[in-house]
Amino acid sequence: MPAILDLKDIQKSFQDGEEKRTVLNNLQLEVAAGEFVAILGPSGSGKSTLLSIAGVLMSADKGHIILDGQDISQATQKIWTSIRREKIGFVFQSHQLLPYLTVYDQLLMAAKMSRVKNLDQRIKELLDDLGISDCAKKFPKQLSGGQKQRAAIARAFLAKPALILADEPTASLDEARGRQIAELLQKETKENHSAAIMVTHDERILDVVDHVYRLKEGQLFQEK
Ligand SMILES: Nc1ncnc2c1ncn2[C@@H]1O[C@H](COP(=O)(O)OP(=O)(O)OP(=O)(O)O)[C@@H](O)[C@H]1O
Ligand SMILES: [Mg+2]
Repeated sequence: MPAILDLKDIQKSFQDGEEKRTVLNNLQLEVAAGEFVAILGPSGSGKSTLLSIAGVLMSADKGHIILDGQDISQATQKIWTSIRREKIGFVFQSHQLLPYLTVYDQLLMAAKMSRVKNLDQRIKELLDDLGISDCAKKFPKQLSGGQKQRAAIARAFLAKPALILADEPTASLDEARGRQIAELLQKETKENHSAAIMVTHDERILDVVDHVYRLKEGQLFQEK
């Protein structure tokens, strides 16, 4: 399997008062199509920074981001924006749904930005797959935490992105709901042949992922 995401020699430092703090230090990571990996690490170890760099929301100081065989590390902001729309799906800790749109309309809007084909059918299929068909006409405030997270997953997978990046998607849920969300991420990742990275603090759900890495001193150590 060729890697969908290939991070090579990623370096990132932040200025912390007088001193420079190196958060990612020559970090390497490869994720293949259909592969679901988890990243663990203490608070402040750089997990969100790593996802931001992989999702071209933030630039690295050094290194290469190869997505779908293309080195995008030096591309313009404009190209990064279209890559984010067409090739990357994001799921965050708080679902980040828009309060004034129904679930169906959120998906419709996201899809229009990324040119999805057979839109209505794709939306219904995904909502059905994720077990929230009955939520299509509801607004976020009418949904439970787990339902909101499912809607956010539907939105992330809508355009069949090459890469899924999820930053603590189960953090606001109890263990059973958190596990369900991880299992749905796994299922969609396999079905769409996406590559998915989930940052998590929850070691109880690691049986759901293919590989586990721990971020320590700016580098990833494989544990599974
Ligand atoms: N934009 C920024 N400017 C300056 N420092 C930053 C910035 N973003 C992150 N940092 C610093 O980089 C380090 C890593 O932050 P990051 O948010 O990636 O950690 P994390 O592993 O996601 O932590 P958590 O588990 O708490 O979410 C922290 O010391 C943080 O203060
Ligand atoms: Mg974080």
